[in-house]
Parts: sequence; C-alpha cells; structure tokens
Amino acid sequence: MRHILAKSLAPTDGVRDYLAAQEKKSLLRFLTCGSVDDGKSTLIGRLLSDTKQIFEDQLAALERDSRKHGTTGDDIDFALLVDGLEAEREQGITIDVAYRFFATPKRKFIVADTPGHEQYTRNMATGASTADLAIVLIDARQGVLPQTRRHSIIASLLGIRHIVLAVNKIDLVGFDQAVFERITEAYGQFSRDLGFQTIVPIPMSARYGDNVTSRSDSMAWYSGPTLIEHLETVSVEEAVVELPFRFPVQYVNRPNLDFRGFAGTIASGSVAPGDEVVVAKSGKSSRVKRIVSYGGDLAQAAAGQAITLVLDDEVEISRGNMLVSPAARPQVADQFAANIVWFDEHALLPGRSYILRTETDQTSATVTDLKYRINVNDFAHEAAKSLDMNEVGICNISTRTPIAFDTFAENRTTGAFILIDRISNATVGAGMILHSLRRAENIHWQSLDVGKRVRADMKNQRPAVFWFTGLSGSGKSTIANLFEKKLFATGRHTYILDGDNVRHGLNRDLGFTDADRVENIRRVAEVARLMADAGLIVIVSFISPFSAERRMARELMADGEFIEVFVDTPFEECARRDPKGLYARALNGEIKNFTGVDSPYEAPEKPEIHLQTLGKSAEQMVDALEHWLNERDIAEDQYDNGGGI
Ligand code: ADX
Repeated sequence: MRHILAKSLAPTDGVRDYLAAQEKKSLLRFLTCGSVDDGKSTLIGRLLSDTKQIFEDQLAALERDSRKHGTTGDDIDFALLVDGLEAEREQGITIDVAYRFFATPKRKFIVADTPGHEQYTRNMATGASTADLAIVLIDARQGVLPQTRRHSIIASLLGIRHIVLAVNKIDLVGFDQAVFERITEAYGQFSRDLGFQTIVPIPMSARYGDNVTSRSDSMAWYSGPTLIEHLETVSVEEAVVELPFRFPVQYVNRPNLDFRGFAGTIASGSVAPGDEVVVAKSGKSSRVKRIVSYGGDLAQAAAGQAITLVLDDEVEISRGNMLVSPAARPQVADQFAANIVWFDEHALLPGRSYILRTETDQTSATVTDLKYRINVNDFAHEAAKSLDMNEVGICNISTRTPIAFDTFAENRTTGAFILIDRISNATVGAGMILHSLRRAENIHWQSLDVGKRVRADMKNQRPAVFWFTGLSGSGKSTIANLFEKKLFATGRHTYILDGDNVRHGLNRDLGFTDADRVENIRRVAEVARLMADAGLIVIVSFISPFSAERRMARELMADGEFIEVFVDTPFEECARRDPKGLYARALNGEIKNFTGVDSPYEAPEKPEIHLQTLGKSAEQMVDALEHWLNERDIAEDQYDNGGGI
C-alpha cells in the first residue's frame, strides 16, 4: 500500500514539511524474538494498529494536500520515507523477513517481523543483522525457555546491545508481580555475559494492550515505561560515524567516458572532498574529488548515506573492494576465526566448500577447524564435528582469496559475512569475525623454478585427473586398475588413489560420517592436485558421494584437467555382487552410514564420462576412457600448434 501511495502522491509544500519532520525523527530498528505462541504476531499487530492511526491520518492529509495542489513532479522525497525498507531488501540476504514501518510523533520504527518455526533462527538472524534492539518475548506462564536463551545468544552475537524483556500474557497469571520478578531475575542471571547494555523488563498483555501503547490499570505495582514509551526514548546511538571510514564499493559507475565514480553506502565513518582514501586490498591511495549524491554534490557524507565517490586518480577498484581511511585500515587475510550461527537443515561440515559473502565481496571458503559448539543453556563449550541447524559454534575459516574486514566487535558491517551453499544457493549460516589468524600471515607461497609444464613435458604427456565416482562395488577399482595398466603400456606416467588404500594410511583416522567423508575427499583432492602438478595422470577411485566435494575437487584443478567419470551401476547390482560382503552386513544393520543404504549417494549430473556398466565388460569401459583421453590430447596439440611457435 505504501508503494502505491508513494507513486500516487506528488510532493507539495505541505508534504515537504511533513517529510522534513519525518526526516528529522530518529529511526529505531528492532526485531521481536519469540514464537507465535508467545504472542509475537499479536504484539506486532498491536503496535502497528495502535500507532498506525497517527501515521494514516497524516497520510490522508498528505493525499488531500497533493490533490488540492495537483502538482505533478517526482516522488523522490516521499520515497525517502520508505528508503530504509528498500535498502534492507537490497541487502539480498532477506529470506522470509517482513519489514514493517510505523511512526509515532517522536520516532520512526522499522520492525523486522520474522515468522517461521523450522527456519526461525535463519529469519531471526537476518532480522537481527540490522537491528538496534530486540524484544525478547516471554510467555509469563512459561518463563525463560531454551529458545529464549538461543535467541538472546544469537541477538548478542549479531551485535544487538539493547533488549526489552517483554513478559507477555501477564493477564493469564493474574497480573502477578512475583511471576514478573522471578522471570526478570532468571533472565538477568542468564544474560549476564551476553554484553547487553540495557535490559528493560516490561510486564504486558499484547492481547489487551496493557503496557504496550497504554498504561495498564491492572498493574499498579509497575512503575516503568510502557513498551512504546521505551521504544520512543531508548538511546541506541552507536557512533558508527565516529568509526574509521569504510566504503564497500557496490559498483563502478561509468555512464560515459568523462565520469567514473564508485557507488555504495558508507558503512562507517565520514568522508569529505580532499580526504585521502586507500583501496583496502591493494593499498593504492587517492583523494576524494567529489561526493556525488542524488540531490547534487555534497560537502561531506557519513555512515548510512548512499553516494558515489569520484577520485583524483584512475585507481583500480573492482566490486568487492573497499575504500578506507589510510589512518585505520581494515585487515586483509584469508584465514580468520569466527562465530557461526548455522541455519540449514544440512549440517555445517568442516572441509566442505561454501561461498562466503561479505558486504560486497565473495569468495569460496571452508571451515578448517570447528573448535567448539556453544551450549545455549549453560554456554558450555562442547566438542563438535559438525554444526546442526540452529547451532552456534566457533571455528577457523580459510578463504580462497583474501578478504578485507574488521573484527565484528569493531564494526558490525565489515566484520560480518554469510555462508551460501554452492549447490542450492541457499544462505546456510551467518558469521561474525573474531580475529585473523597469524599463521596465515607467516606462510607465503614459495615459487619454484621447475614448473608443472616442464615436469609434464618431460613425461611427454598432459596431466589429468580421472575422478571415478560410484557406489561401493560398482566396479571403480577394477576399471581403474585395467585403465592404468593400458596407460602404463603406452608409456604414460600414472598413479591410482584408491579409497580403500588411502584409508589405510593418510586417511586412516576417518570413518564414514558425512563430516569424515567430506574431509576424506578434501584430502584426496589436494593430493590429486599435487600429483597433477607433478605431471602425472591421476586416477582417483573414491565413492565420493557428495556433489559439493566433487565440485570442490574440480575447482582445484586446472581447466580441462578434471574428468569426472560416473561408474554407474545400479544399487541392486552392487548389492548382488557384494564383493566384500559389506552390503549384506549393511542391510542387516551391522554397518552404519553405508552408501546407498543409510547414507546418500548424489549421482553426477554432468559427468565428462558416463559409464553404464550393466552387461558391459571392463575392457569396453576402458576403451571409452582411452578414447576420451586421446581426443583431448589431439585437441590440445592442435590448439598448441595453432597458438604460436
Ligand atoms: S567415500 O564415501 O569417503 O568416498 P571411500 O571411497 O573412501 O568412501 O571408501 C569406500 C570404501 O570403504 C568402500 O568401497 C567399502 O569397501 C568401504 N566401506 C566401509 N564402510 C563403508 C560405509 N559405511 N560406506 C561406504 N563404504 C564403506
């Protein structure tokens, strides 16, 4: 409705006055934590309906005004009123969060309404990432529940420093002061170490409106503010303007040859023409020539403003980089420790490759070490091999390319990231950076004189990684073995990495849980890469049941070097052959996590070579592989000869 109104209204003097007044009001962003049963929807509904009156009266006046004056013009000013909302949506991480806007004569509010049961943590974290305050809803009959603790910990991790403890449904316990005090006390105890600056407990009945927007007649014992009074007056000013200048570059704005500017929203600090700025990752510096905004050039701009910066020199800054203050630069590293809140039903698995996205940057990342999981009831640090949905943990992260960041404690914007699943593209976790890892600073790539190309040339071959994937008993090892014999006979230099064999040595510490299989494949992919670098033709024969790890292996190799070979034998046939007697035992329940029985196999969608083995001999399969390799080498030779001397 707001949008239609926004479009239909043209600004008039009356409208401008109103908007100017709105502009001057401060904005409070908050979210409500709790489930439908706690009365969350009722509370939001109550806030909106009790305050909407004010807002809609004014809108009606606006509408009359603009009709009367009948001016047509742009509706930019009005859009300013709802800008906050649009900006949030554009952050792209919104999942299921509805942002609702309301205003009172004293303040404007954006409340993140985060529905959902299963996915609640994900939605809540999304809402919390931009909120200043959280209303933690408690059903007076239930008191502090595990989910109250979980939500409070997530709110704390996400940088929220102000809490309203809404002890709701107080009417259902007879407006009993003792109940209220017990809950307040319990929450205070629990949240002592969460770093909240203010915790304001308010007894209320969202259903009847008691202490929400109007004072309750039934609780003479309560002398604190009503919810709306508190929301109108609480001071949440975090001096982001005082922080060092951080300007994540959203895109390079180059409408014509005469203009080149860097567009984005200032994350922290302020900037003025003449200021020196530095490109975070390259360290190149320049000076600000102009600050271009929608309404013309500015003499200064500060945190929260969307601007385009024009610099003195033609420095290279791509999307994903940051312009920063030279006096206080962010860190640039590819390894750091972070807090992770996990949202997805598929657990976080160390070793798996995810997409890590910061405010503007994106790269691939793996959790190299899950240090511990936090028990939300008593904050105990628990050993964990994976993080399940709604769990919180501390881990080390390694990224493919370095990112520029501050710690989350220093800066909520440049210290945060999200993790995205490579296959489904879903946002699966949120991260808060704790500190960079020194070991990353002290290990540098050593450049060696004898390179991959000469090593391969000496062997008179092109490196390749034939990656066999398929069920246990599908024939991978038999085909691999015969294939290697043939290659060997034609003078090629080869090596087979076989699952069963590698699990006797390098990977003897790993079992068959999802987490262990991910690590199994990660290690063997790294080894295959080293062998390809040595110039070898590598045959990898592992079940490698997960698409994500096969993709990770593919991305490790040079273009055209990774050849995925799907050894496709139906489950029934593998179980019938049962060369090691494992299927019989797995189907009996004697072996756990057996692929195809109680552990999944994700068949490749587009393998380079698809071997359907039923009714075919191993020789026929190997002919297909040899044929493929010869074709590739001929094609590459032609390319090489045509490409230069
Ligand atoms: S992978 O899934 O991690 O890639 P890998 O290829 O290393 O598996 O090892 C599979 C081999 O381990 C099988 O061929 C089989 O001989 C043996 N094995 C023992 N337990 C299992 C199990 N639970 N699931 C699959 N294979 C198992």
